Amino acid sequence: MTALSPSNAVAVIGAGTMGAGIVQVAATAGHTVYIFDTSPEAIDKGIAQIEKFLARSVSKGRMDDEERISILGRIKPCSKLEDLAPAKLVIEAIIENIEVKRSVFGQLEDILDDDAILASNTSSISITEIAAKLKRPERMVGMHFFNPAPIMKLVEIIHGLVTDKEVADIAFATAEAWGKKVVHAKSTPGFIVNRVARPFYSEALRILQEGGADIPTIDSCIREAGGFRMGPFELMDLIGNDINFSVTQSVYNAYFQEPRYRPSLIQQEQVAAGRYGRKSGQGYYDYSEGATTPEPSTAASAPAPTEITLIGENSLLDPLAKLAEEAGIKVIKGDTEELSGFMIDDVLVLLSDGTPASELTNVLSSPTIVFDLALDYKAASRIALAKGDQVSGDDLAKAVGFFQALGKKVSVIDDCPGLIVMRIIAMLANEGSDAVYQGVTTPEGVDIAMMNGVNYPKGPMQWAQDIGLEHIFSTLDALSSFYGEDRYRTSPLLRRAVIAGKDLV
Ligand code: NAI
Repeated sequence: MTALSPSNAVAVIGAGTMGAGIVQVAATAGHTVYIFDTSPEAIDKGIAQIEKFLARSVSKGRMDDEERISILGRIKPCSKLEDLAPAKLVIEAIIENIEVKRSVFGQLEDILDDDAILASNTSSISITEIAAKLKRPERMVGMHFFNPAPIMKLVEIIHGLVTDKEVADIAFATAEAWGKKVVHAKSTPGFIVNRVARPFYSEALRILQEGGADIPTIDSCIREAGGFRMGPFELMDLIGNDINFSVTQSVYNAYFQEPRYRPSLIQQEQVAAGRYGRKSGQGYYDYSEGATTPEPSTAASAPAPTEITLIGENSLLDPLAKLAEEAGIKVIKGDTEELSGFMIDDVLVLLSDGTPASELTNVLSSPTIVFDLALDYKAASRIALAKGDQVSGDDLAKAVGFFQALGKKVSVIDDCPGLIVMRIIAMLANEGSDAVYQGVTTPEGVDIAMMNGVNYPKGPMQWAQDIGLEHIFSTLDALSSFYGEDRYRTSPLLRRAVIAGKDLV
C-alpha cells in the first residue's frame, strides 16, 4: 500500500503536547499541515515549541536553515474546523474525552472529502467506539504516536472493528514514510505498548510490596543487569505517578478487572500523597535541591573461589564462564543436567527459573543460591542473588565472591521467585504472548512496539526466545505455584509453543 504523497495536505486537531509534535513530523515529511485548536494560544505555543526544536536541530547541524524555514512555511494555523477542508488525513490529538472526540469527527465528516482518512491519537479510547456514530466509520483509524512525537519512533496503527484495511494500510505506509517504526494493532485496551508494559511496573511494585528488594536496588538491577535505560521507579517518576496509576486503572477496568493488571496500593498511596514524581519534586525519589540519590544495596567484598564447576549447557552463561577463566578461576566442566549454573564447593549457584532458592535447597539437597537474568552477562555490572532461607551466610559469600571476581557488583535480595529481571522479563513475554494469542498483533509487532515505544533494549518475545521458552515457561509456572494467583497463569500461546517445541519469533 502506498503512503499519502507529500502533495496531499494533512490536518492536526489539538496543538498540545502531542498535536504540536505530530504537526512537526508531518511538516518535516513535506506535507502542508493545517493545525486547529479551540485555544488560539495553544496553537501559538505549539508552533513556538516546533520553532524551538527546529532551531536546535539547525544549531546542532542536523538540518540547514533553508529546510527549517520551509518546514515552518508548510504549517498553517487555522481558526475554524472548516479551514481543514483540503486535508486528506486528519489526526486528532485533543482532550481524552469520547463525547468531544465524537463531536469533532462528526463535524469533520461534513467538511472533508469522502475519501479523507480520520485518525485519532487516543491512548485509551476504543477506535470502534469513536467511529460508531460516524457516517463512514470505516474511514476511521487510530494513529497512536508516543511522546515526544518527533523523537519517539513508534506509531501504533489501531484497527477498529470496521476500519477499512486499505485505510489502515495507507495510515501505516504514511507513518513509515514519515520515518516511523509502525505496527498494526487491534483496538483493544492499552493497544500494544500500554498493555505489554504493565508488568514492568506492576511486578516491580509487587517485589517492593513484598520486601523482596528496595527501590534503588530494583532500579539498579533493571538498568545494570537488564540493560534498560531506566528502572521502573525512575520511569514512573518521569511519566508521573498520577498518569501511570490512571493508565493502570484504565487498562485494569477495561479488561474487566483482569488480575494481571491490578493496580498497586503502593502507587495509590504515592498519588494520594501528591508524590507524582519529577514534576512534583517528590515521587519514589526526592528531586528537591540538594537531595541525595539513595544507593542500591551492594554486598561487601567476599573472597573469590579458586575453582568452580559448570553445570548444564546454557549458552546464556558462556560469558560468565569466560570471565571466570579470565579472572584466574579454574572452570571445571561438570555433568550436563537440567540445571544451569555453577557449583562452588558444595554450594549450587543457579540461574533463576522462578523456583525460590529455599525450595531448590530442599529438592536438590544442597545449599542453593539463585542469580538473576542479565541481558548480557559480560556487560552487566550488577547481579542480584538470593539464598535459600536455610542457607548460611558463609555459603552465600561463596557466590558473592564469585560474581565479584568477575567484576560485578552484587545485590543480595530476598528469596522472591524469579528475582527481579527474570521475573519482569518472563511477565513481559507472557503479556506479549497473550496479546498475540488474542490477535492484537504479531510477535514481531510486540517487539517493534516495545523497543520503539518505550526503548526496551530487546523485544520481550525475542528475549524469551533467546533465554529459552521452556525456561520462561518454568519461571511463570513457579510464580503461579508460589503465589497461587491467576495473575501468573501462562499464556496459551507460550504453553503451546513449548509443548510443540516451536519458536515464538
Ligand atoms: P494536551 O492537553 O497537551 O493538548 C490537548 C489540546 O487539545 C489542547 O491544546 C486543547 O486546547 C485542545 N482541545 C481540546 N478540545 C478541543 C476541541 N474540541 N477541538 C480542538 N482542540 C481541542 O493533550 P496531549 O497530551 O497532547 O494529548 C492529546 C491526545 O493524545 C489525547 O487523546 C491523549 O490520550 C493522546 N496521547 C497523549 C500522549 C502523551 O504522552 N501526552 C501520548 C499518546 C497519545
